[in-house]
Amino acid sequence: MAKNLHGVHSPLVFDLLNEVFNNQQSYYAFDEIEFIKNQLSQSKNSIKQIEHGAGSRTKNESIKTVSTLVKKVSIPVQQGRWLFNLVRYFNPDNILEMGTCIGISTLYMALENKNRPIVTLEGNPDSANIAQNIFNKLGLKNILLLQGEFENTFETSLNQIKKIDFAFIDGNHRYEPTINYFNKILPFINEQTVLVFHDIHWSRGMEKAWHEIKNHPSVSVSIDVFFMGILIFRKGIVKQNFVLK
Ligand SMILES: C[S@@+](CC[C@H](N)C(=O)[O-])C[C@H]1O[C@@H](n2cnc3c(N)ncnc32)[C@H](O)[C@@H]1O
Repeated sequence: MAKNLHGVHSPLVFDLLNEVFNNQQSYYAFDEIEFIKNQLSQSKNSIKQIEHGAGSRTKNESIKTVSTLVKKVSIPVQQGRWLFNLVRYFNPDNILEMGTCIGISTLYMALENKNRPIVTLEGNPDSANIAQNIFNKLGLKNILLLQGEFENTFETSLNQIKKIDFAFIDGNHRYEPTINYFNKILPFINEQTVLVFHDIHWSRGMEKAWHEIKNHPSVSVSIDVFFMGILIFRKGIVKQNFVLK
């Protein structure tokens, strides 16, 4: 699905369109990740769900198969490739992910450069185990998976990476937690930091949170690509909120 930009002139957003969202280039990593996704989507092993937020679209279920997690909770292929392209484009020194699940989005970010450190946080021990096994199998040494509630693991993650250059926030899709995570991250950002919030239109709460976050004075550019919202903090550019359709 090609994205379009009507009537706005921003070199950064123009670049993002070409290099990230409309970039059709295929990488070996895509085959590797999508092969693993296919394998996992056959698995009927079940995982007990933990109530820490509205993490998936399928509600009122306490047990999910790995197959369901791959198909309904993990990032879809197109969005995963965008994430890979975003990391490739911005080339951050480190990455923080909130919401590993079984590690699919982590792989899209980690395989772009196997030397770039990425810390990923997951509360569900069973999901975290599956993710860790996949990372081990692929011999990925750049991923540190911290299992536990975000509230408890966030600080430990900061001990590891000290500052946040790129973050993908994809857990607990409700208003208050989302605002809280944004506020927790803010003291650790710099001018080059890029934050990506997943599922910004998932619920009324997420809509409200995205509206507040993108209008925060520290944000210089926000880009809404429907499934995700991207925040840029560069100084010296006119504040603008873009919507790519
Ligand atoms: C939508 S899933 C993440 C999907 C993953 N990013 C992907 O695309 O492959 C959200 C994950 O966040 C975790 N989560 C939600 N709230 C959490 C919290 N407060 N602490 C720790 N983990 C949490 C859930 O267990 C769930 O696995």
